[in-house]
Amino acid sequence: MQQQALDWLKSGDQIGLVPTMGALHAGHDSLLQRARRENNRVVVSIFVNPRQFGPNEDFHRYPRPFEDDRARLERLGVDAIFHPPLEQIFPPAFKTSIDPGPLGMVLEGAIRPRHFGGVLTVVLKLFELTRPTRAYFGQKDFQQVVLIRQLVRDFSLPVRVVACPTVREADGLAMSSRNAYLDPDQRRVAPAVRQALEAAALAFGRGESDAVRLESQVRDALREAAVEHVDYVAVVDETTLSRPARAQSGNIVALAVKLGSTRLIDNVVLGAERF
Ligand code: PAJ
Repeated sequence: MQQQALDWLKSGDQIGLVPTMGALHAGHDSLLQRARRENNRVVVSIFVNPRQFGPNEDFHRYPRPFEDDRARLERLGVDAIFHPPLEQIFPPAFKTSIDPGPLGMVLEGAIRPRHFGGVLTVVLKLFELTRPTRAYFGQKDFQQVVLIRQLVRDFSLPVRVVACPTVREADGLAMSSRNAYLDPDQRRVAPAVRQALEAAALAFGRGESDAVRLESQVRDALREAAVEHVDYVAVVDETTLSRPARAQSGNIVALAVKLGSTRLIDNVVLGAERF
């Protein structure tokens, strides 16, 4: 993979990388399509990264429909599908890991303490192996984008990080490989996550800027929709992840909930024209 990437770069090509864990859906497709528009070579990586799963998380049951993914990518058009075996990325002798620092300890990181260390370690490795000019990530995982931008800045990596809008089902549920775990009852409740965020964005648009009140409004809406388990709801600054008392345009309302054992995350940008 690395030799191929270096050959492409030598002949003047630009490489777009879309890192994924497979079980591809329209959200992944949208990153790929953007990458194809902006680069003349596109690599999609499919690697279910054990380091970003906690001990009681779903690494073993995470879906791995590789043949479906391959067919989908061939239909959409890619220059390479990079699907390395685990022992090539993390052989037993692998020792180093990236410490994401303070931005990796809040929100998702507070609930999943080793998650972002695992993400940044594999993303750095994938960057080295595929040498992207640009790398494409989804806004659904906005904290992941913040941390990858930090990684790129801190280590002076020659890659442009491109964040892409969240692709949703018709009823507003953010597409996710984990949506397949939802039973029919949970699937009926799931759009409430988006609706709660949308209501907060509307309230902000009407002049409510008290962050605590916006957060309570989201929590109340979730409770009314019978979403029992809320990991967090937070208004945060979009770059520092700090918690402002007064929300401003561009700030993000982020949340994580659990429906049964399935964790869903979503977020909305305040003051955006479309959300
Ligand atoms: P994965 O969950 O497979 O997601 C791959 C990319 O697709 C991520 O950048 C994610 O934000 C984006 N994505 C997922 N759902 C989306 C949606 N509904 N709309 C738009 N984009 C969406 O995120 C990971 O994998 C991993 O952490 C990875 C970066 C590959 C490192 O292992």
